[in-house]
Amino acid sequence: MTQTYSEPRASYAPSDDFAAQANGTVELYRQAEDDRLEFWSQQADRLAWATPFTEVLDWSNAPFAKWFVGGRLNVAYNCVDRHVEAGNGDRVAIHWVGEPVDDARSITYAELQDEVCRAANALTDLGVVAGDRVAIYMPMVPEAIVAMLACARLGAMHSVVFAGFSASALRARIEDAQTKVVVTTDGQYRRGQAVPLKPAVDDAVAGLGETNPVEHVLVVRRTGIDTPWTEGRDLWWDEVVDSASTEHTPDAFDAEQPLFLLYTSGTTGKPKGIVHTSGGYLTQASYTHHYVFDLKPERDVYWCTADIGWVTGHSYIVYGPLSNGATQVVYEGTPASPDEHRHFQIIEKYGVTIYYTAPTLVRTFMKWGREIAFAHDLSSLRLLGSVGEPINPEAWRWYRLVFGGDATPIVDTWWQTETGAAMIAPLPGVTACKPGSAMGALPGISAKIVDDDGNQLEPGTEHGEQPSGYLVLDKPWPAMLRGIWGDPERFKETYWSRFAEQGWYFAGDGARYGHDGEIWVLGRIDDVMNVSGHRISTAEVESALVGHAGVAEAAVVGASDESTGQAICAFVILKAHHTDLSHEQMVEELRAEVAKEISPIAKPREIHVVPELPKTRSGKIMRRLLRDVAEGRELGDTSTLMDPGVFEAIRAAR
Ligand code: WT7
Repeated sequence: MTQTYSEPRASYAPSDDFAAQANGTVELYRQAEDDRLEFWSQQADRLAWATPFTEVLDWSNAPFAKWFVGGRLNVAYNCVDRHVEAGNGDRVAIHWVGEPVDDARSITYAELQDEVCRAANALTDLGVVAGDRVAIYMPMVPEAIVAMLACARLGAMHSVVFAGFSASALRARIEDAQTKVVVTTDGQYRRGQAVPLKPAVDDAVAGLGETNPVEHVLVVRRTGIDTPWTEGRDLWWDEVVDSASTEHTPDAFDAEQPLFLLYTSGTTGKPKGIVHTSGGYLTQASYTHHYVFDLKPERDVYWCTADIGWVTGHSYIVYGPLSNGATQVVYEGTPASPDEHRHFQIIEKYGVTIYYTAPTLVRTFMKWGREIAFAHDLSSLRLLGSVGEPINPEAWRWYRLVFGGDATPIVDTWWQTETGAAMIAPLPGVTACKPGSAMGALPGISAKIVDDDGNQLEPGTEHGEQPSGYLVLDKPWPAMLRGIWGDPERFKETYWSRFAEQGWYFAGDGARYGHDGEIWVLGRIDDVMNVSGHRISTAEVESALVGHAGVAEAAVVGASDESTGQAICAFVILKAHHTDLSHEQMVEELRAEVAKEISPIAKPREIHVVPELPKTRSGKIMRRLLRDVAEGRELGDTSTLMDPGVFEAIRAAR
């Protein structure tokens, strides 16, 4: 494949050819501006409703929204059955690619319908009814998606827990949501090795003691490795699902029927169970997937590399693509398994046309070198996407050049677990993109960058420092979170109190405007870190560290990192005479403790044993200064420090 390299440009407009065939045109912005609610009503008509809605939005009890009031639908019917009824049953829904090479299968919409019906019947037999919660703790196997859709079909909520999370993280989520059933696998493949997974479920449930809500654990046989078993409680998927009937009539549920819970990190140690509902969520997931990814369901092969344990997997592997009748690749493994060619081989083999990934992975590919990509025919790609953190312009250009033949549009999509679907992103046939900017709010969405008092910032000027401010969403949107599970006060406090007077949603991100009024998201401004696109709170890691008997105090900050965006840096004070371990051994033990308490993804890059932590006179740890230390900068203003000498001690300890 030949590549022509062009000089970096300020902006990249879509080609005439791309624009001419694009799903989204400028007209879409105009329609949304004319009548926002009418616009969303039209987007909701993308779905099949059993009972039409009578009102688009009820915002009378803000911030508790109701979208598509009076409407009734079944989410799984919309994602599966209606495509079969439309005559597309033979279309491949999922090209599933296992981690072991040659372990692959393709599932048509008709086959998916049979599987989802079987699973819904099996869950019903286990006593699952509408409103119940079901935990899904699984690697990227087709059954995970089937389980999610089966819950949706029954009006039960799924709570997917990333299979990289530890038993204690799973336990906390089972406990908070009171999940009746846990769906899992015997094990999972990690870099060619079959490793156990089910024992973590046993651990999690055992730790719940008397208050254990889990009645059944449904286990998919993925690796065939030996699995501990609790008779009566544990059931093999292939024994109860495979034998269930493929006939299942879906009930229609209210548009506001809860669809799922997804836990995410906030500024405290306790993860928040973000609640999403049905009609509004599916409308926006479907709408954004159609327009932002320019999906042509008859010809595109779409691939989102996320895991279903995160919101990206929910909205852009399950609900968006399937509601649109897409054909997609779902890959179980890591990009370097068995070697660095894997993603490129998959693109080549399946003729992937749309590829959606995270900046951290693009930077990993950059590190491996472009020769790896250039060894493959990637000419099927026509659109690229990015999500999870700001993409640095250099990575953006590399991505476009090496994956996109220096020709494809790139859609940088800003959104959050809480927003449910993309909010700020280009329309690929319309927007001239600036590398590193997610550009503007999508049609129907409204976002602003404001100062402390809520005044909107001015677009940037050609020269000088651009001021930065807070990113807010000043109008409700269909896929917005409906609350935090069991904690309406925290919901109001976290998102709606900062600009309560104006009634705006506070996203927790800093941002600035560019010259043309485009939005540059700068990253979190709260105590939430973004490590390889994963959201981890400083408080969670701190609480895991102080959970170790040898630690007296801990402070955690996110420091910028070339490959992962941010990296976790911890400062700990050890208890005197606790152990005979050297500091190096202690640090290793603490890293293992964090992996055990949360997940290996939360392991600090560095842990510094220090004699003291920098505190204000009121006792608050000054993380800003710790960030300066972690990033090797000159210290900022230290005037409010209780003991300015503390840094000499910290520096000496490093
Ligand atoms: C936070 C949300 C959206 C699904 C994956 C992450 C950051 C996300 C972008 C982007 C700049 C981004 C923000 C946001 N973020 N996408 N395109 N440009 N920043 O979901 O775990 O809820 O994290 O990720 O800081 O607040 P999440």
